[in-house]
Amino acid sequence: MKIAFLGGGKIGRAMIDHVLARQDVEIAFVYDPFLKAGELGGVNVTAELEKEMFEGLDLVVECANAEVVAANLEDVLSCCSFMPFSMTAFRDDEIRAKAEELSKKYGTNVFLPHGAILGLDGIFDGREALTEVTVETIKNPKSLGRDDTELTVLYEGPTRKATELYPKNVNVHAAIALAGIGFDRTWSKITADPAVSTNTHVIHLAGQGIDFTIRVSSFSEGGVSGKYVPLSACGSLESVLGGTGFRFV
Ligand SMILES: NC(=O)c1ccc[n+]([C@@H]2O[C@H](COP(=O)([O-])OP(=O)(O)OC[C@H]3O[C@@H](n4cnc5c(N)ncnc54)[C@H](O)[C@@H]3O)[C@@H](O)[C@H]2O)c1
Repeated sequence: MKIAFLGGGKIGRAMIDHVLARQDVEIAFVYDPFLKAGELGGVNVTAELEKEMFEGLDLVVECANAEVVAANLEDVLSCCSFMPFSMTAFRDDEIRAKAEELSKKYGTNVFLPHGAILGLDGIFDGREALTEVTVETIKNPKSLGRDDTELTVLYEGPTRKATELYPKNVNVHAAIALAGIGFDRTWSKITADPAVSTNTHVIHLAGQGIDFTIRVSSFSEGGVSGKYVPLSACGSLESVLGGTGFRFV
């Protein structure tokens, strides 16, 4: 298989190292205008991106930011499958609908990775029965680009607005909304707590005969992604490299 990456930061590098250990997958390029050539060992790093570069690929993995998802959706999906990690891109209904339309039109897949949480597949399966979904994220203020000295609730309200206000920090909320009951009916809370060094997400889902609580806590290493995400990303990539169909992975 032949794959490419858009973004070569923390998550990207974990997946690139993982793929380099396989004999059956070739990395065509890593598009990241902020990396120097040679920075990723022998992997081809490029600062220029042309539509033709996606031709002949099997998969493109985005791990840069939500704008990169929107900007490349059509070019990628008309050539190959796409695995975007910046899920907040789908807060825009047009982008979400376009991703579904394009993948159907070109027979390609949008693989939606579980990222910082677990259980997206199960939520997706039960979405028709769900009536109430809440997601609370508690992070150290530094992970949210802030310097609060006491516990501060930054936002409480529909997920659509949360993903607009904190696009880099609430990919979990976007993923839950996408798999479950949408960006307007999912309720988000974002809390900055200077006493914690973890990224914690508490998800409560209820509906006809259903009541789930998912709590995930992962040590924060400074950037937007906690300790669990690189492991989760490699696992999702592994599933995709061996799988078919439109799936939450
Ligand atoms: N789905 C999830 O649960 C989940 C969890 C954590 C992070 N994320 C998201 O995944 C993405 C990557 O996270 P990360 O921890 O690797 O971040 P990172 O900051 O370590 O890496 C991002 C990389 O993207 C590059 N980049 C920036 N602008 C670019 C552009 N226009 N084109 C191409 N590359 C560009 C940067 O140079 C950097 O190397 C972020 O959007 C983050 O919010 C999703």
